[in-house]
Amino acid sequence: RMSLLRSASQHLRRRRDYSSASASPERKVAILGAAGGIGQPLALLMKLNPLVSSLSLYDIAATPGVAADVSHINTRALVKGFVGDDQLGEALEGADLVIIPAGVPRKPGMTRDDLFKINAGIVKGLCTAIARHCPNALVNMISNPVNSTVPIAAEVFKKAGTYDEKKLFGVTTLDVVRAKTFYAGKANVPVTGVNVPVVGGHAGITILPLFSQATPASNALSHEDLLALTKRTQDGGTEVVEAKAGKGSATLSMAYAGAVFGDACLKGLNGVPDIVECSFVQSTVTELPFFASKVRLGKSGVEEVMGLGELSALEKEGLESLKGELLSSIEKGVNFAQES
Ligand code: NAD
Ligand code: LMR
Repeated sequence: RMSLLRSASQHLRRRRDYSSASASPERKVAILGAAGGIGQPLALLMKLNPLVSSLSLYDIAATPGVAADVSHINTRALVKGFVGDDQLGEALEGADLVIIPAGVPRKPGMTRDDLFKINAGIVKGLCTAIARHCPNALVNMISNPVNSTVPIAAEVFKKAGTYDEKKLFGVTTLDVVRAKTFYAGKANVPVTGVNVPVVGGHAGITILPLFSQATPASNALSHEDLLALTKRTQDGGTEVVEAKAGKGSATLSMAYAGAVFGDACLKGLNGVPDIVECSFVQSTVTELPFFASKVRLGKSGVEEVMGLGELSALEKEGLESLKGELLSSIEKGVNFAQES
């Protein structure tokens, strides 16, 4: 009797698995820069995501090996590797979501803006191909400097006539991931239920965590604690760059953050309600043309760019002092794309 019951329950479970898999639509995700420090663990995490039916791994070298490796994992997504310019079109064809971690990372002593010279051209080339091969895809930009690469992407898409501001995202999730971890540690609360919005941009003082809106709220934090938490969040990337001492920047925590944001985008596309994440998007929340804030994700990408809510005096000050740098990084990106 026991074994009969067990086999009946296994049968039911299999049927449920089957019906939930068939209810989830086909979704193709392409990762550009898939053989890199971020690209490889991100490919692994997206292969584990049951919402992905097809996973396209593109890089200028080494993707056949990464793709062969990841493809052996017994999950839903069919994995294909593409290498070199000739195969970029096929990698992108039919993609619903393109995630871009292509480009050089920082070494100690560099700012993210020091990466502009090399990464601006890489992003421009990749976005030109996206406009041609999958103009309707959501684009998650990870390549730095995000404050400039997102405006570059927007200009490339505008020139190609494919720009849809609802579909272009600068990935700032790692700032949120860090703010949550650091806040939970300082406030001594379990990290699992913690949320902290992070707004502005993705470099130094342009990263503005809103600890006054953190949940669960904590009254255990002094003004000095809040200053230290803000600074640690703003310098989180540099903390990793220095610890890696010349071997690059955050890759594993970034892959996690990229997978969280990519999953949110897919859920939005699939019509799951109330998907809210922070992201650097075209915005009217401030006078700056691009700004990171909470956004609601839906079937066509950004469904709503949400306001900043109430800010503390410290946060208001931070907001005013980030605007100059953020605007000049945005303009640098726009000028590059218009002039080149
Ligand atoms: P990496 O050097 O390990 O990997 C980059 C990959 O991009 C390499 O495999 C390289 O071959 C590939 N690449 C170069 N040119 C390409 C092109 N034209 N097309 C496709 N692929 C190309 O670097 P990484 O550590 O993975 O970092 C990648 C980027 O992500 C850097 O710019 C870094 O600053 C940025 N980053 C952003 C965040 C964020 O929060 N947004 C976090 C961490 C890193
Ligand atoms: C990060 O925040 O870790 C990334 O932007 C990489 C960097 O250069 O700091």
